[in-house]
Amino acid sequence: MANRESLNIFGASSMGYALIETNRLEQWRSLLQDGIGLHLDCADQQTLAFRMDTHQRRIIVQRGDQEDFIAVGWQLRDQATLDEVLRRLQRLGIEVQISDPSAAAHRGVRQFWRVLGPKRLAVELFWEPLTTDQPLNMLNAGFITGQAGMGHLAITSRKPQQMRRFWQEIFDARTSDHIVERIAGLTLDIDFFRVNERHHSIAIARLRGLQMDPIRTRVQHMNLLTTSVSELTEAFLRCRKLGFEMAHEIGEHPNDREQSFYVMSPSGFELELGWNALVVDEAQWQTTSYQGISLWGHRPEKTGTLHKFSTNLGNFARGVRSLLNPEYSPL
Ligand SMILES: [Fe+2]
Repeated sequence: MANRESLNIFGASSMGYALIETNRLEQWRSLLQDGIGLHLDCADQQTLAFRMDTHQRRIIVQRGDQEDFIAVGWQLRDQATLDEVLRRLQRLGIEVQISDPSAAAHRGVRQFWRVLGPKRLAVELFWEPLTTDQPLNMLNAGFITGQAGMGHLAITSRKPQQMRRFWQEIFDARTSDHIVERIAGLTLDIDFFRVNERHHSIAIARLRGLQMDPIRTRVQHMNLLTTSVSELTEAFLRCRKLGFEMAHEIGEHPNDREQSFYVMSPSGFELELGWNALVVDEAQWQTTSYQGISLWGHRPEKTGTLHKFSTNLGNFARGVRSLLNPEYSPL
């Protein structure tokens, strides 16, 4: 058996698709097609499937009672990378389920291998996406995908060490940097991890000194990147005109220098659209720590006292409830 040191798979994996479950299909269609400007490839009573490049499916929205982000497709470069990941999972004692053909077709891949990841987010491994050369019909001129994948996920955790190990030991994730943010008298520590040249594919946030998770959903936000500042501002204006609440208006992060906005999705997690995120040069990169999540902007749209009070109260209640339910970790 090949040992781990000889097969480093950094650069050989990326975020490949998103699977969302909701009963608010029409709101999701409106947000992703009319707001963010994705290509709606098929729609029926049960499923919406969106494209943003040559992949047949990048975001799949399916009808169901979980209002949540339920699975992320993780694309591996080739069969050899998949074999290496499966060996590591076996070594770690993590169970893997092989997909059936209909579930694979639903996600736009030939086959996938499913793992129940940290916080019960399914991580679905694949290396053969189904692709198409049919033209895209999008309000947005384009999205950054390719080798570095379709975007990133930010996840809150009460077991950040285990979550970090999951991404490091299975996908050779590297730490990009760290941000300390103060919110309502609490300190939030956010670690950013890359698995390829994208500055981060996974961010893990934790409340310092408190084993509480105020976020109901498995994912706090999903990020997509567009190609220009005008694509960003036009999407921002479309989303606002459609009546979607801006969790954070346009602003800039200090670490990857990405300018972005965050819109509340119909399922309660946030969707971040950004542009101009820096690409990591491995030869030059140095891990840094920053104070504050934004250099400028990213102001919440709703700033009223009543809104703040109800949001904080809801988050606090969820945080207290989270003390009663231990967070799932496969490690
Ligand atoms: Fe983000």
